[in-house]
Amino acid sequence: MTESAPGAHAALGIDIGGTGIKAEVVDCVSGTIRGAAIIRPTPNPATPDAVLGIVATLLRDISWSGPIGIGYPGVVKNGIARSAANVDDGWKNFPIAERFGALTDQTVRVMNDADAAGLAELRFGAARDQAGDSGATVLMTTFGTGIGTAFFHRGRLFPNTEFGHVELNGGDAEDYAAASIKTKLGLSWSEWGARVHEYLAMMEMLLSPELIVFGGGVSENFDHFKAYLDTRAEVRPAQLGNDAGIIGAALATDLPQL
Ligand code: BGC
Repeated sequence: MTESAPGAHAALGIDIGGTGIKAEVVDCVSGTIRGAAIIRPTPNPATPDAVLGIVATLLRDISWSGPIGIGYPGVVKNGIARSAANVDDGWKNFPIAERFGALTDQTVRVMNDADAAGLAELRFGAARDQAGDSGATVLMTTFGTGIGTAFFHRGRLFPNTEFGHVELNGGDAEDYAAASIKTKLGLSWSEWGARVHEYLAMMEMLLSPELIVFGGGVSENFDHFKAYLDTRAEVRPAQLGNDAGIIGAALATDLPQL
């Protein structure tokens, strides 16, 4: 746990996930969070209004006054959700920035959750040597309920890539290789690792990244499956763990709304 006084460069990062809604104040200069993230279970059903209600209580508990960044698990254009793959259908076309902004008089920025995690890893984590104008082509992947991706070239994000939905094995790639599928089907590390390998091979064929950052909670177990990933690109486990989404969401407050 790293203490950092909230100041001009601090922002509240909120990560809306399938199982939990996480929030904490982030020092956007050092990339550290103020304390252990506050986690609330995602309501069921996770309608926009139900999630808004949770975020309202979080804001009261944290008593934060300053910019707010939100990571959302779907396509975000101009602060509006444009897809809802693993969340309630009511999110489609929901004006997230406007409705969450109405809870507070602070600036609210929203971005895709994998884009947020990727930004954090690029700035402060596993890919920090690739930030900036001379940075290589980097693919960030998050393996969880679904597969999230963030794509960078020379330190710049190409947002909303949604490469978790390319076709693999006759269906949606995330329905074949997400971490949740390992649990659902009781796959061994080698069985799941082989699926992840197929997925990364397709990503390499399409995108030719120099570096792949492997994120999501399952990256803690990277040693159990790294042997199955036979890629041209270097694959590094993410370094910021579950905090990447919060840190990246906070960093979004320094960017124009995507
Ligand atoms: C969504 C992505 C998201 C990923 C990880 C996918 O199902 O389409 O937008 O980044 O899950 O949450």
